[in-house]
Amino acid sequence: MFYISIVVVLIFIVVVLKFLTKPSPKSLKSRHVVITGGSSGIGKAVAVLAARKGANVTIIARNIEKLEAAKKEIESQTANQIVTTISVDVSDKEAIEEKILEIEKSVGPVFMLVNCAGLAICGKLEEMTKKDINQLINVNLLGTIYPIQALLPRFKERQEGIVVLTGSVVSLMGLFGYSIYSSCKFALRGLAESLYQELKLYNVSVTLALPPDTDTPGFETENKSKPKETKLLSESGGLLAPEAVAQKLMDDALRGHFFSHVGLEGFIVTTLCIGMSPFCSLVDVAIEATLLGPLRLIAAFYVKHFEGIIFKCSMEKKNNQKKEE
Ligand SMILES: NC(=O)c1ccc[n+]([C@@H]2O[C@H](COP(=O)([O-])OP(=O)(O)OC[C@H]3O[C@@H](n4cnc5c(N)ncnc54)[C@H](OP(=O)(O)O)[C@@H]3O)[C@@H](O)[C@H]2O)c1
Ligand SMILES: *[C@@H]1O[C@H](CO)[C@@H](O)[C@H](O)[C@H]1NC(C)=O
Ligand SMILES: *[C@@H]1O[C@H](CO)[C@@H](O)[C@H](O)[C@H]1NC(C)=O
Ligand SMILES: *[C@@H]1O[C@H](CO)[C@@H](O)[C@H](O)[C@H]1NC(C)=O
Repeated sequence: MFYISIVVVLIFIVVVLKFLTKPSPKSLKSRHVVITGGSSGIGKAVAVLAARKGANVTIIARNIEKLEAAKKEIESQTANQIVTTISVDVSDKEAIEEKILEIEKSVGPVFMLVNCAGLAICGKLEEMTKKDINQLINVNLLGTIYPIQALLPRFKERQEGIVVLTGSVVSLMGLFGYSIYSSCKFALRGLAESLYQELKLYNVSVTLALPPDTDTPGFETENKSKPKETKLLSESGGLLAPEAVAQKLMDDALRGHFFSHVGLEGFIVTTLCIGMSPFCSLVDVAIEATLLGPLRLIAAFYVKHFEGIIFKCSMEKKNNQKKEE
């Protein structure tokens, strides 16, 4: 009884401290926010939020019709700010640099860059074509590096800015069928952690968003290339609305949190993989330090569970093959 009350009191103190130490969010009013991949899915939901918060919004993607449709949707949420569209491939370094220079001139200095352009193609590694591999690396990794590089010198000079990178839950853990996609998303974590250190002194914050499966046009396409194993492994996570993911991303980015994870599962995986990542408060560090050991035990159960699912799939396939013969 005595120990239970101590634990309850401790939890209470931690919750109160966490609430008290919560940084207040930065304002986007009359700021310029650039969102790559802002014509669809999570990026579009982020653009709508930025517009509601009073920002001038620029969305970047390739397809002009999709850009124009998204622009209309975003404009309906603005008071009298400007919404600009740019059609460019994020993996074209020179073109991105040129376009970013142009919009800084025509709209205003960029305060926040949200990198949402990306795509997933699934499949066992031996099934991935050279074209698939190149596209995944070009868009997810290089297409995040180039827009950041284009804006960095300006952010540093102005001593303010927010950079958001969109990783995924598979930035922290590999998963059957995601070998190349997950490699790219892991790379974004290294990029984000290094950038955080490079930019801290310049008052520029870095946030790495880690969305779980989200109901977007991109997810629908990805679903088509998904092996059965991948579907079964990610089934338990459910499917989130892009608006919910965008809301969390925006809130975390404006508060300067390094990771932006969603839901209990996101919290558990992030805590488990916290490693050498930066932190905002000692309260968070205390929570993570306490939970790490026990979470590893739960994770061990999942690792075996996942291996079991993959084994069962392979047995089923063998049996089906026998039946056909
Ligand atoms: N949906 C999920 O379940 C999920 C989960 C975890 C992480 N994520 C990540 O979240 C981000 C957004 O995903 P989403 O599901 O919202 O995708 P989406 O609906 O397919 O939207 C992707 C956006 O990126 C743009 N884009 C793609 N390739 C581009 C390129 N080469 N140059 C410029 N723009 C490009 C697309 O427009 P154009 O095609 O017209 O260029 C579109 O606006 C991605 O990084 C994805 O990996 C998604
Ligand atoms: C936002 O747009 C308004 C209206 O055109 C403009 O006056 C202002 O300078 C812009 N500000 C930024 C930071 O983009
Ligand atoms: C840091 O940036 C914020 C906006 O993100 C700004 O309000 C603040 O004045 C900046 N602080 C310094 C010390 O430049
Ligand atoms: C994904 O594909 C499966 C069939 O393989 C289907 O049952 C499911 O509804 C699809 N999900 C989405 C979001 O498209």
